[in-house]
Amino acid sequence: MAHLIINADLQGSRISRNIYGHFSEHLGRCIYGGIWVGHDSPVPNTDGLRNDVIEALRLLKVPVLRWPGGCFADEYHWRDGVGPHGTRKRMINTHWGGLVEDNSFGTHEFLRLCELTGAEPYICGNVGSGTVQEMQEWVEYITFEGESPMTNLRKANGREQPWKLTYFGVGNENWGCGGAMRPEYYADLYRRYACYIRNFNGNSIYRIACGPNEGNYHWTEVLMREAANRMSGLSLHYYTVPSGNWDCKGSATEFDESEWFGTLKKTLVMNDLITKHDTIMTRYDPDKRVGLIVDEWGTWYDVEPGTNPGFLYQQNSMRDAIVAGINLNIFHHHSDRVQMANLAQIINVLQSVILTEGGRMLKTPTYHVMEMYKVHQDASHVPITIQGGEYGFGGESLPQVHASASMDAQGVLHLSLCNLDPTRPADLTAEIRGMGVKSVDGRMLAASVMQAHNTFDEPDTVRPVAFFGASVTNGHLTAVLPPMSVSVLALS
Ligand code: AHR
Repeated sequence: MAHLIINADLQGSRISRNIYGHFSEHLGRCIYGGIWVGHDSPVPNTDGLRNDVIEALRLLKVPVLRWPGGCFADEYHWRDGVGPHGTRKRMINTHWGGLVEDNSFGTHEFLRLCELTGAEPYICGNVGSGTVQEMQEWVEYITFEGESPMTNLRKANGREQPWKLTYFGVGNENWGCGGAMRPEYYADLYRRYACYIRNFNGNSIYRIACGPNEGNYHWTEVLMREAANRMSGLSLHYYTVPSGNWDCKGSATEFDESEWFGTLKKTLVMNDLITKHDTIMTRYDPDKRVGLIVDEWGTWYDVEPGTNPGFLYQQNSMRDAIVAGINLNIFHHHSDRVQMANLAQIINVLQSVILTEGGRMLKTPTYHVMEMYKVHQDASHVPITIQGGEYGFGGESLPQVHASASMDAQGVLHLSLCNLDPTRPADLTAEIRGMGVKSVDGRMLAASVMQAHNTFDEPDTVRPVAFFGASVTNGHLTAVLPPMSVSVLALS
Protein backbone atom coordinates (compact mmCIF):
# COMPACT_ATOMS: atom_id res chain seq x y z
CA MET A 1 0.00 0.00 0.00
CA ALA A 2 1.37 3.40 -0.99
CA HIS A 3 0.22 6.54 0.81
CA LEU A 4 0.56 9.96 -0.82
CA ILE A 5 0.44 13.36 0.78
CA ILE A 6 -0.38 15.93 -1.87
CA ASN A 7 0.49 19.45 -0.75
CA ALA A 8 -1.85 21.61 -2.81
CA ASP A 9 -1.42 24.14 0.03
CA LEU A 10 2.25 24.71 -0.89
CA GLN A 11 3.24 26.93 -3.80
CA GLY A 12 5.49 25.10 -6.25
CA SER A 13 7.47 26.29 -9.26
CA ARG A 14 6.00 26.50 -12.75
CA ILE A 15 6.51 23.37 -14.84
CA SER A 16 7.84 24.86 -18.07
CA ARG A 17 6.03 23.51 -21.10
CA ASN A 18 9.51 23.10 -22.60
CA ILE A 19 10.06 20.06 -20.38
CA TYR A 20 7.88 18.39 -23.04
CA GLY A 21 10.37 19.24 -25.79
CA HIS A 22 11.64 16.91 -28.51
CA PHE A 23 14.79 16.42 -30.54
CA SER A 24 15.06 15.94 -34.32
CA GLU A 25 18.46 14.90 -35.63
CA HIS A 26 19.80 14.06 -39.07
CA LEU A 27 20.17 10.46 -37.99
CA GLY A 28 18.77 7.36 -39.65
CA ARG A 29 15.16 7.91 -40.73
CA CYS A 30 14.34 10.72 -38.32
CA ILE A 31 14.39 13.58 -40.84
CA TYR A 32 14.41 11.79 -44.19
CA GLY A 33 11.35 9.51 -44.30
CA GLY A 34 10.18 10.41 -40.81
CA ILE A 35 9.52 14.13 -41.24
CA TRP A 36 10.57 15.04 -44.76
CA VAL A 37 9.26 13.17 -47.81
CA GLY A 38 9.68 15.97 -50.37
CA HIS A 39 7.15 17.89 -52.42
CA ASP A 40 6.65 15.16 -55.04
CA SER A 41 6.09 12.29 -52.62
CA PRO A 42 2.92 10.16 -52.80
CA VAL A 43 2.85 10.47 -48.99
CA PRO A 44 0.43 13.35 -48.26
CA ASN A 45 2.52 16.36 -47.32
CA THR A 46 2.60 20.11 -46.84
CA ASP A 47 5.65 21.71 -48.43
CA GLY A 48 7.39 18.30 -48.31
CA LEU A 49 6.58 17.64 -44.62
CA ARG A 50 4.41 14.62 -43.76
CA ASN A 51 0.82 15.59 -42.92
CA ASP A 52 0.24 12.61 -40.60
CA VAL A 53 3.30 13.57 -38.55
CA ILE A 54 2.35 17.25 -38.40
CA GLU A 55 -1.10 16.34 -37.12
CA ALA A 56 0.24 13.93 -34.48
CA LEU A 57 2.78 16.49 -33.24
CA ARG A 58 0.16 19.24 -33.02
CA LEU A 59 -1.99 16.96 -30.89
CA LEU A 60 1.00 16.34 -28.64
CA LYS A 61 1.46 20.10 -28.15
CA VAL A 62 5.19 19.84 -28.80
CA PRO A 63 6.47 23.10 -27.29
CA VAL A 64 10.04 23.12 -28.59
CA LEU A 65 12.04 21.10 -31.12
CA ARG A 66 15.83 20.76 -31.15
CA TRP A 67 17.69 20.43 -34.48
CA PRO A 68 19.92 19.45 -36.38
CA GLY A 69 21.79 17.31 -33.79
CA GLY A 70 23.27 15.78 -31.67
CA CYS A 71 26.64 14.76 -33.00
CA PHE A 72 25.43 15.80 -36.45
CA ALA A 73 25.29 19.47 -35.33
CA ASP A 74 29.08 19.81 -35.05
CA GLU A 75 29.48 18.53 -38.61
CA TYR A 76 26.69 20.57 -40.13
CA HIS A 77 27.35 23.64 -42.26
CA TRP A 78 24.05 25.45 -42.56
CA ARG A 79 24.80 27.16 -45.87
CA ASP A 80 24.78 23.73 -47.56
CA GLY A 81 21.09 23.45 -46.64
CA VAL A 82 19.67 26.69 -48.06
CA GLY A 83 18.89 27.74 -51.61
CA PRO A 84 16.90 26.09 -54.39
CA HIS A 85 16.35 22.34 -54.07
CA GLY A 86 18.45 20.48 -56.57
CA THR A 87 21.32 22.95 -56.29
CA ARG A 88 22.19 22.08 -52.70
CA LYS A 89 25.37 20.14 -51.99
CA ARG A 90 25.11 16.45 -51.32
CA MET A 91 26.96 15.28 -48.23
CA ILE A 92 27.84 12.13 -46.35
CA ASN A 93 26.50 11.85 -42.84
CA THR A 94 29.72 10.30 -41.60
CA HIS A 95 28.60 10.08 -38.00
CA TRP A 96 25.38 8.18 -38.61
CA GLY A 97 25.58 5.27 -41.02
CA GLY A 98 27.35 6.98 -43.93
CA LEU A 99 24.04 8.04 -45.46
CA VAL A 100 24.29 10.40 -48.45
CA GLU A 101 22.00 13.38 -47.81
CA ASP A 102 20.95 15.88 -50.44
CA ASN A 103 20.41 18.67 -47.91
CA SER A 104 16.81 19.06 -49.04
CA PHE A 105 15.86 19.53 -45.40
CA GLY A 106 17.62 22.64 -44.10
CA THR A 107 16.91 25.83 -42.19
CA HIS A 108 13.79 26.88 -44.13
CA GLU A 109 12.26 23.41 -43.97
CA PHE A 110 12.96 23.04 -40.25
CA LEU A 111 11.45 26.42 -39.43
CA ARG A 112 8.43 25.60 -41.62
CA LEU A 113 7.97 22.38 -39.62
CA CYS A 114 8.00 24.46 -36.44
CA GLU A 115 5.39 26.83 -37.87
CA LEU A 116 3.13 23.94 -38.88
CA THR A 117 3.39 22.07 -35.59
CA GLY A 118 3.41 25.09 -33.25
CA ALA A 119 6.81 24.12 -31.76
CA GLU A 120 9.45 26.74 -30.99
CA PRO A 121 12.76 26.08 -32.74
CA TYR A 122 15.88 25.22 -30.74
CA ILE A 123 18.87 25.26 -33.09
CA CYS A 124 22.19 23.74 -32.13
CA GLY A 125 25.21 25.44 -33.72
CA ASN A 126 28.50 23.99 -34.87
CA VAL A 127 31.47 24.62 -32.55
CA GLY A 128 33.41 21.41 -33.24
CA SER A 129 34.11 21.97 -36.94
CA GLY A 130 32.49 25.34 -37.62
CA THR A 131 33.59 28.93 -37.26
CA VAL A 132 32.42 31.85 -35.17
CA GLN A 133 31.53 33.65 -38.40
CA GLU A 134 29.38 30.73 -39.57
CA MET A 135 27.44 30.68 -36.31
CA GLN A 136 27.08 34.45 -36.23
CA GLU A 137 25.76 34.51 -39.79
CA TRP A 138 23.26 31.71 -39.16
CA VAL A 139 21.59 33.72 -36.40
CA GLU A 140 21.72 36.82 -38.59
CA TYR A 141 20.20 34.90 -41.53
CA ILE A 142 17.29 33.70 -39.39
CA THR A 143 16.54 36.73 -37.25
CA PHE A 144 17.83 39.97 -38.81
CA GLU A 145 15.38 42.29 -40.47
CA GLY A 146 17.56 45.19 -41.73
CA GLU A 147 19.90 45.49 -44.68
CA SER A 148 22.72 42.91 -44.48
CA PRO A 149 24.31 40.20 -46.62
CA MET A 150 22.51 37.48 -44.67
CA THR A 151 19.13 39.21 -44.89
CA ASN A 152 19.62 39.57 -48.62
CA LEU A 153 20.52 35.91 -48.95
CA ARG A 154 17.44 34.88 -46.96
CA LYS A 155 15.22 37.04 -49.13
CA ALA A 156 16.82 35.65 -52.28
CA ASN A 157 15.96 32.21 -50.93
CA GLY A 158 12.30 33.15 -50.67
CA ARG A 159 11.80 34.30 -47.10
CA GLU A 160 11.10 38.01 -46.70
CA GLN A 161 10.47 38.28 -42.96
CA PRO A 162 12.88 37.02 -40.30
CA TRP A 163 11.80 34.16 -38.07
CA LYS A 164 11.60 34.30 -34.30
CA LEU A 165 14.33 32.19 -32.76
CA THR A 166 14.74 31.97 -29.00
CA TYR A 167 16.77 28.85 -28.21
CA PHE A 168 20.30 28.43 -29.52
CA GLY A 169 22.84 25.79 -28.42
CA VAL A 170 26.54 26.55 -28.65
CA GLY A 171 27.73 23.11 -29.75
CA ASN A 172 26.74 19.60 -28.71
CA GLU A 173 28.68 17.14 -26.55
CA ASN A 174 31.87 19.12 -27.03
CA TRP A 175 33.50 16.80 -24.48
CA GLY A 176 32.97 13.96 -27.01
CA CYS A 177 31.75 13.89 -30.62
CA GLY A 178 31.70 17.70 -30.69
CA GLY A 179 35.46 18.12 -30.51
CA ALA A 180 36.76 16.04 -27.56
CA MET A 181 37.48 19.22 -25.58
CA ARG A 182 38.46 19.79 -21.97
CA PRO A 183 35.93 21.88 -20.00
CA GLU A 184 38.41 24.73 -19.56
CA TYR A 185 38.96 24.95 -23.31
CA TYR A 186 35.26 24.65 -24.16
CA ALA A 187 34.34 27.28 -21.53
CA ASP A 188 36.62 29.78 -23.29
CA LEU A 189 35.25 28.81 -26.70
CA TYR A 190 31.71 29.11 -25.38
CA ARG A 191 32.42 32.66 -24.19
CA ARG A 192 33.82 33.57 -27.58
CA TYR A 193 31.08 32.01 -29.73
CA ALA A 194 28.26 33.23 -27.47
CA CYS A 195 29.54 36.80 -27.83
CA TYR A 196 28.63 36.83 -31.52
CA ILE A 197 25.17 35.35 -31.17
CA ARG A 198 23.39 38.69 -31.44
CA ASN A 199 19.93 39.77 -30.41
CA PHE A 200 18.46 41.46 -33.50
CA ASN A 201 15.20 43.43 -33.74
CA GLY A 202 14.22 42.72 -30.14
CA ASN A 203 14.68 38.97 -30.63
CA SER A 204 16.23 37.69 -27.41
CA ILE A 205 18.31 34.53 -27.65
CA TYR A 206 18.40 32.03 -24.82
CA ARG A 207 21.99 30.74 -25.09
CA ILE A 208 22.56 27.13 -24.10
CA ALA A 209 26.08 25.98 -23.26
CA CYS A 210 27.14 22.38 -23.74
CA GLY A 211 26.86 20.75 -20.36
CA PRO A 212 27.98 17.50 -18.83
CA ASN A 213 27.46 13.91 -19.75
CA GLU A 214 25.77 11.99 -16.94
CA GLY A 215 27.83 12.37 -13.73
CA ASN A 216 30.65 14.58 -15.04
CA TYR A 217 30.40 17.08 -12.20
CA HIS A 218 33.79 18.62 -13.00
CA TRP A 219 32.41 19.82 -16.35
CA THR A 220 29.48 21.53 -14.62
CA GLU A 221 31.77 23.11 -12.04
CA VAL A 222 34.12 24.58 -14.66
CA LEU A 223 31.35 25.83 -16.97
CA MET A 224 29.47 27.48 -14.13
CA ARG A 225 32.64 29.00 -12.70
CA GLU A 226 33.88 30.38 -16.02
CA ALA A 227 30.74 31.22 -17.97
CA ALA A 228 27.52 31.13 -15.88
CA ASN A 229 26.96 34.86 -16.33
CA ARG A 230 27.02 34.45 -20.13
CA MET A 231 24.60 31.57 -20.47
CA SER A 232 20.84 31.09 -20.06
CA GLY A 233 21.03 27.32 -19.88
CA LEU A 234 23.45 24.43 -19.43
CA SER A 235 22.65 21.08 -21.02
CA LEU A 236 22.73 17.58 -19.50
CA HIS A 237 22.63 14.28 -21.37
CA TYR A 238 21.60 11.01 -19.76
CA TYR A 239 20.33 7.89 -21.53
CA THR A 240 18.78 4.80 -19.96
CA VAL A 241 20.84 1.85 -21.19
CA PRO A 242 19.33 -1.31 -19.63
CA SER A 243 22.53 -3.37 -19.39
CA GLY A 244 24.83 -0.41 -18.75
CA ASN A 245 27.04 -1.96 -21.45
CA TRP A 246 27.19 0.10 -24.65
CA ASP A 247 28.33 -2.91 -26.71
CA CYS A 248 25.33 -5.02 -25.76
CA LYS A 249 22.60 -2.73 -24.50
CA GLY A 250 19.66 -5.15 -24.67
CA SER A 251 16.65 -5.57 -26.95
CA ALA A 252 13.73 -3.13 -27.10
CA THR A 253 11.11 -5.87 -27.11
CA GLU A 254 12.76 -9.13 -26.04
CA PHE A 255 13.60 -8.87 -22.39
CA ASP A 256 12.75 -10.48 -19.08
CA GLU A 257 11.83 -9.04 -15.70
CA SER A 258 15.43 -8.62 -14.65
CA GLU A 259 15.97 -6.24 -17.62
CA TRP A 260 12.67 -4.52 -16.88
CA PHE A 261 13.77 -3.94 -13.28
CA GLY A 262 17.28 -2.84 -14.32
CA THR A 263 15.89 -0.37 -16.85
CA LEU A 264 13.63 1.31 -14.31
CA LYS A 265 16.40 1.37 -11.72
CA LYS A 266 18.69 3.13 -14.22
CA THR A 267 15.93 5.58 -15.11
CA LEU A 268 15.62 6.67 -11.47
CA VAL A 269 19.31 7.72 -11.62
CA MET A 270 18.11 10.83 -13.47
CA ASN A 271 16.91 12.22 -10.14
CA ASP A 272 20.37 11.89 -8.51
CA LEU A 273 22.09 13.43 -11.52
CA ILE A 274 19.83 16.48 -11.58
CA THR A 275 20.07 16.91 -7.81
CA LYS A 276 23.88 16.86 -7.88
CA HIS A 277 24.32 19.09 -10.93
CA ASP A 278 21.77 21.48 -9.45
CA THR A 279 23.74 21.65 -6.21
CA ILE A 280 26.86 22.71 -8.13
CA MET A 281 24.92 25.20 -10.23
CA THR A 282 23.33 26.70 -7.13
CA ARG A 283 26.77 27.54 -5.73
CA TYR A 284 27.27 29.92 -8.69
CA ASP A 285 23.63 30.72 -9.40
CA PRO A 286 21.66 30.66 -6.13
CA ASP A 287 18.63 32.33 -7.74
CA LYS A 288 18.38 29.52 -10.28
CA ARG A 289 18.44 31.84 -13.28
CA VAL A 290 20.43 29.39 -15.40
CA GLY A 291 18.27 26.50 -16.56
CA LEU A 292 19.39 22.88 -16.62
CA ILE A 293 18.43 21.75 -20.12
CA VAL A 294 18.13 17.96 -20.33
CA ASP A 295 18.30 18.08 -24.10
CA GLU A 296 18.93 14.37 -24.61
CA TRP A 297 17.21 11.67 -22.59
CA GLY A 298 15.44 8.38 -23.18
CA THR A 299 16.07 4.66 -23.61
CA TRP A 300 18.87 3.37 -25.83
CA TYR A 301 18.69 -0.30 -26.88
CA ASP A 302 20.35 -2.44 -29.54
CA VAL A 303 18.94 -1.58 -32.98
CA GLU A 304 16.09 -3.67 -34.38
CA PRO A 305 17.52 -6.82 -35.99
CA GLY A 306 18.29 -6.35 -39.68
CA THR A 307 18.42 -2.54 -39.55
CA ASN A 308 21.45 -0.29 -40.15
CA PRO A 309 23.41 -0.14 -36.86
CA GLY A 310 24.15 3.55 -37.59
CA PHE A 311 20.45 4.43 -37.74
CA LEU A 312 19.60 3.63 -34.10
CA TYR A 313 16.09 2.43 -34.97
CA GLN A 314 14.35 0.76 -32.04
CA GLN A 315 10.82 -0.32 -31.07
CA ASN A 316 9.06 1.11 -28.06
CA SER A 317 7.11 -0.90 -25.48
CA MET A 318 5.16 -0.53 -22.25
CA ARG A 319 8.57 -0.41 -20.54
CA ASP A 320 9.37 2.81 -22.44
CA ALA A 321 6.03 4.25 -21.35
CA ILE A 322 7.00 3.78 -17.69
CA VAL A 323 10.48 5.21 -18.37
CA ALA A 324 8.86 8.31 -19.90
CA GLY A 325 6.46 8.71 -16.97
CA ILE A 326 9.26 8.43 -14.40
CA ASN A 327 11.51 10.93 -16.21
CA LEU A 328 8.70 13.47 -16.64
CA ASN A 329 7.80 13.13 -12.95
CA ILE A 330 11.46 13.77 -12.06
CA PHE A 331 11.59 16.86 -14.29
CA HIS A 332 8.42 18.18 -12.61
CA HIS A 333 10.00 17.75 -9.18
CA HIS A 334 13.02 19.75 -10.36
CA SER A 335 11.08 22.37 -12.30
CA ASP A 336 12.78 25.15 -10.32
CA ARG A 337 16.00 24.27 -12.22
CA VAL A 338 15.01 22.15 -15.23
CA GLN A 339 13.72 24.64 -17.79
CA MET A 340 13.69 22.34 -20.82
CA ALA A 341 14.05 18.66 -21.73
CA ASN A 342 14.16 17.04 -25.17
CA LEU A 343 13.38 13.38 -25.69
CA ALA A 344 15.75 11.64 -28.13
CA GLN A 345 14.62 11.45 -30.91
CA ILE A 346 11.19 12.37 -32.09
CA ILE A 347 10.77 9.85 -34.97
CA ASN A 348 12.35 6.50 -35.90
CA VAL A 349 15.40 6.85 -33.59
CA LEU A 350 15.86 5.76 -29.93
CA GLN A 351 12.81 6.47 -27.69
CA SER A 352 10.62 7.89 -30.42
CA VAL A 353 7.03 9.01 -30.06
CA ILE A 354 6.34 8.17 -33.72
CA LEU A 355 7.51 5.39 -36.05
CA THR A 356 7.02 5.45 -39.81
CA GLU A 357 7.32 2.90 -42.57
CA GLY A 358 6.73 4.24 -46.07
CA GLY A 359 3.35 5.99 -45.93
CA ARG A 360 2.38 4.37 -42.62
CA MET A 361 2.76 5.91 -39.19
CA LEU A 362 2.19 4.71 -35.63
CA LYS A 363 2.16 6.31 -32.20
CA THR A 364 4.31 4.54 -29.64
CA PRO A 365 3.45 3.97 -25.96
CA THR A 366 5.82 6.87 -25.20
CA TYR A 367 3.69 9.13 -27.43
CA HIS A 368 0.64 8.27 -25.37
CA VAL A 369 2.39 9.09 -22.09
CA MET A 370 3.56 12.47 -23.40
CA GLU A 371 0.04 13.16 -24.65
CA MET A 372 -1.62 12.18 -21.36
CA TYR A 373 0.94 14.20 -19.37
CA LYS A 374 0.58 17.37 -21.47
CA VAL A 375 -1.90 18.72 -18.89
CA HIS A 376 1.18 19.53 -16.75
CA GLN A 377 2.59 22.01 -19.30
CA ASP A 378 2.95 25.43 -17.64
CA ALA A 379 1.02 24.27 -14.55
CA SER A 380 2.26 24.86 -10.98
CA HIS A 381 4.17 21.99 -9.50
CA VAL A 382 2.46 20.56 -6.39
CA PRO A 383 4.89 18.91 -3.96
CA ILE A 384 4.02 15.35 -2.90
CA THR A 385 5.50 12.72 -0.62
CA ILE A 386 4.99 8.97 -0.99
CA GLN A 387 5.23 6.52 1.88
CA GLY A 388 5.28 2.74 1.54
CA GLY A 389 4.81 0.46 -1.43
CA GLU A 390 7.81 -1.40 -2.79
CA TYR A 391 8.50 -3.29 -5.98
CA GLY A 392 11.00 -6.02 -5.11
CA PHE A 393 12.98 -8.15 -7.54
CA GLY A 394 16.11 -10.27 -7.16
CA GLY A 395 16.80 -9.04 -3.62
CA GLU A 396 16.53 -5.35 -4.55
CA SER A 397 13.64 -2.95 -4.40
CA LEU A 398 12.32 0.19 -6.07
CA PRO A 399 9.36 2.36 -5.11
CA GLN A 400 6.27 0.67 -6.55
CA VAL A 401 4.58 3.99 -7.28
CA HIS A 402 6.30 6.97 -8.89
CA ALA A 403 4.23 10.13 -9.08
CA SER A 404 4.02 13.89 -9.57
CA ALA A 405 1.27 16.50 -9.38
CA SER A 406 0.47 19.97 -10.65
CA MET A 407 -2.32 22.55 -10.49
CA ASP A 408 -3.49 24.12 -13.72
CA ALA A 409 -4.80 27.66 -14.25
CA GLN A 410 -8.41 26.48 -13.75
CA GLY A 411 -7.61 25.00 -10.34
CA VAL A 412 -7.69 21.37 -11.51
CA LEU A 413 -5.16 19.13 -9.79
CA HIS A 414 -3.48 16.60 -12.11
CA LEU A 415 -1.82 13.56 -10.61
CA SER A 416 0.45 11.30 -12.67
CA LEU A 417 1.01 7.81 -11.33
CA CYS A 418 3.30 5.03 -12.57
CA ASN A 419 3.05 1.52 -11.18
CA LEU A 420 6.52 0.06 -11.78
CA ASP A 421 5.60 -3.48 -10.75
CA PRO A 422 4.80 -5.67 -13.79
CA THR A 423 2.84 -8.26 -11.80
CA ARG A 424 1.10 -6.62 -8.81
CA PRO A 425 -1.53 -3.87 -8.76
CA ALA A 426 -0.70 -0.88 -6.53
CA ASP A 427 -3.18 0.08 -3.81
CA LEU A 428 -3.00 3.76 -3.15
CA THR A 429 -4.48 6.24 -0.72
CA ALA A 430 -3.90 9.98 -0.86
CA GLU A 431 -4.47 12.85 1.50
CA ILE A 432 -4.95 16.10 -0.39
CA ARG A 433 -4.04 19.15 1.67
CA GLY A 434 -5.30 22.64 0.90
CA MET A 435 -8.04 21.63 -1.51
CA GLY A 436 -11.54 20.23 -1.15
CA VAL A 437 -11.62 17.53 -3.81
CA LYS A 438 -15.02 16.18 -4.84
CA SER A 439 -14.49 14.34 -8.11
CA VAL A 440 -11.87 12.35 -9.99
CA ASP A 441 -11.56 11.45 -13.61
CA GLY A 442 -8.65 9.88 -15.47
CA ARG A 443 -6.97 8.00 -18.27
CA MET A 444 -4.59 5.09 -18.14
CA LEU A 445 -2.04 3.28 -20.29
CA ALA A 446 -1.52 -0.38 -19.37
CA ALA A 447 -0.68 -3.71 -20.97
CA SER A 448 -0.93 -7.39 -20.20
CA VAL A 449 2.73 -8.13 -21.00
CA MET A 450 5.88 -6.08 -20.36
CA GLN A 451 6.93 -6.26 -24.01
CA ALA A 452 3.61 -4.96 -25.42
CA HIS A 453 4.16 -2.52 -28.28
CA ASN A 454 2.44 -1.12 -31.35
CA THR A 455 3.18 -2.33 -34.84
CA PHE A 456 2.12 -1.06 -38.26
CA ASP A 457 -0.36 -3.94 -38.50
CA GLU A 458 -1.60 -3.51 -34.92
CA PRO A 459 -1.01 0.16 -34.08
CA ASP A 460 -3.41 0.30 -31.10
CA THR A 461 -2.18 -2.57 -28.93
CA VAL A 462 -1.04 -0.04 -26.31
CA ARG A 463 -3.31 2.99 -26.15
CA PRO A 464 -4.91 5.08 -23.41
CA VAL A 465 -8.29 4.12 -22.02
CA ALA A 466 -10.57 5.70 -19.41
CA PHE A 467 -9.51 4.88 -15.85
CA PHE A 468 -12.29 3.89 -13.46
CA GLY A 469 -10.10 2.61 -10.62
CA ALA A 470 -10.08 5.79 -8.51
CA SER A 471 -12.63 7.36 -6.16
CA VAL A 472 -12.86 10.28 -3.76
CA THR A 473 -14.50 10.04 -0.35
CA ASN A 474 -14.50 12.90 2.15
CA GLY A 475 -11.70 14.62 0.25
CA HIS A 476 -9.47 11.50 0.28
CA LEU A 477 -8.44 9.67 -2.86
CA THR A 478 -8.17 5.89 -3.16
CA ALA A 479 -7.04 4.10 -6.31
CA VAL A 480 -5.92 0.73 -7.54
CA LEU A 481 -3.30 1.05 -10.28
CA PRO A 482 -3.02 -1.96 -12.61
CA PRO A 483 0.41 -3.61 -12.88
CA MET A 484 2.85 -1.79 -15.22
CA SER A 485 0.61 1.18 -15.86
CA VAL A 486 0.77 4.94 -16.27
CA SER A 487 -2.29 6.94 -15.20
CA VAL A 488 -3.13 10.63 -15.17
CA LEU A 489 -5.98 11.71 -12.88
CA ALA A 490 -7.81 15.04 -12.85
CA LEU A 491 -9.10 16.05 -9.42
CA SER A 492 -11.43 18.96 -8.78
O1 AHR B 1 21.08 10.60 -29.73
C1 AHR B 1 22.16 10.01 -30.38
C2 AHR B 1 23.45 10.72 -30.05
O2 AHR B 1 23.69 10.59 -28.67
C3 AHR B 1 23.47 12.20 -30.25
O3 AHR B 1 23.74 12.54 -31.58
C4 AHR B 1 24.59 12.63 -29.37
O4 AHR B 1 24.47 13.95 -28.94
C5 AHR B 1 24.55 11.61 -28.24
O5 AHR B 1 25.78 11.06 -27.98
